[in-house]
Amino acid sequence: MKFFADTSDIDEIKDLADYGLLDGVTTNPSIIAKSGREFIPLIKEICEICDGPVSAEVASTDYATMRKEAEVLRKIADNVAIKVPLTPAGLKTCKELSDDGTMVNVTLCFSAGQALLAAKAGAAFISPFVGRLDDISYQGLDLIADILTIYDNYPQYDTEVLVASVRNPMHIIESAKMGAHVMTAPPKVIKQLYNHPLTDKGLAAFVEDWKKTGQSIL
Ligand code: G3P
Repeated sequence: MKFFADTSDIDEIKDLADYGLLDGVTTNPSIIAKSGREFIPLIKEICEICDGPVSAEVASTDYATMRKEAEVLRKIADNVAIKVPLTPAGLKTCKELSDDGTMVNVTLCFSAGQALLAAKAGAAFISPFVGRLDDISYQGLDLIADILTIYDNYPQYDTEVLVASVRNPMHIIESAKMGAHVMTAPPKVIKQLYNHPLTDKGLAAFVEDWKKTGQSIL
């Protein structure tokens, strides 16, 4: 499973890279607004840190302007993935960009039907938002299962399922059990995967017992 960081925080991105946990980065207009940074230079800086796909989302909602914005964004770096919303205009943009060899991440996906449309439009990634479905009492992970079932029936589709809106480690684990290709999460959630009380307890016991030997490896 590829791990993408759902953040634009440079320090967080560098930190994940240092631990070998950074396969890509996803941003969206809300993440960019929260950063307080200029969009284009920030994406450029992220692309200099991360070799994997870096999602930069168009800001407009009409096809003509999306196409123009995509032309600007894809010039930032070769590993920029253009993020478009799952709308008719977004998928028309996706089809043209993907036909031209540009990576497209189709976002704001909440149904299997939408994911089928994105695959037919040649999306490199589909981003189903599991957390936001959970937030309204739907089983977000059921959508992941449905999309993977559909995509498995059509090997001609190259679209990778990029599990998004990840709220906790169980979203990551359950998606991985289903074979989702990618997940994107805030670095804090990714790091929660390390945590287990028995690991902490066992390590404390090892340290304590090693002290009793009076030895040193160095
Ligand atoms: O960036 C796409 C997605 O991960 C957003 O997640 O937490 O805003 O629902 P969230």
